[in-house]
Amino acid sequence: MNEWLGMPPLAAAHGGQIDNLIGWIHVFMLILFVGWGAFFVYVLARFRKSRNPVADYTGVTGNASKYSEIAVAVIEAVLLIGFAIPLWAARIGDIPPENEALVVQVTGEQFAWNIHYAGPDGKFGRTDIKLLDLQSNPLGLDRSDPAGVDDITTLNQLYLPANKPIIVKLRSKDVIHSFGVPEFRVKQDAIPGLTIPIWFVPTVTTAEMRKRLGNDAFQYEIACAQLCGLGHARMRGFVTVQSAEEFQTWFDTTSKEQSAPDPFR
Ligand code: CUA
Repeated sequence: MNEWLGMPPLAAAHGGQIDNLIGWIHVFMLILFVGWGAFFVYVLARFRKSRNPVADYTGVTGNASKYSEIAVAVIEAVLLIGFAIPLWAARIGDIPPENEALVVQVTGEQFAWNIHYAGPDGKFGRTDIKLLDLQSNPLGLDRSDPAGVDDITTLNQLYLPANKPIIVKLRSKDVIHSFGVPEFRVKQDAIPGLTIPIWFVPTVTTAEMRKRLGNDAFQYEIACAQLCGLGHARMRGFVTVQSAEEFQTWFDTTSKEQSAPDPFR
């Protein structure tokens, strides 16, 4: 049904449930649309002027409309209580423990995504607004903090291993942005002053997805999904999903590169 609805390809473990919910909503909306449409045409014919020259002050006497209203309300309750709320509760409540996941801080700003990994030590370095420099240090990371020496920061490039829970801690430096990756069925506002965790398990590497789609240029994109200013449309990041080994290689090399003293400074 997903292809039929024109959904983007699916690449996260929980996404099937979300697609199911979207599918069921479409089925019921189609039934409602056809039902109400048919009723409207019936009413136009049944209550036409030539058949009803004088207004009838009694109105409807049968129970059909009452029963169909009740049926609609029951279906809506089932969608909400049976599907939507449990799915939402699982997404919000069952965040995996941090030691079994990869934790990444993602900070939105006008108009880019700042990505921050803790590095091999698993500890995020101190950040300080005094060290913040929009060009060289957009997160204000303190490299003199022992926990910060091996940290990795990138601009608009999020690297992730496949088949491991990812916890993204979402923040914003200025206005409300929204972190959306359609293939992961993930979307969450980034709100200044709050750190909001979201989690997902990517299941398809970028290379596999390119093969599947027959498109060598395919990239997972972080689309900012909240109008945040004039540059909103160009606020896009890229996600590269790799195998666990490939990711580890990238992670170790980049951490070394970034912790090495810069010879040009
Ligand atoms: Cu950031 Cu739109």
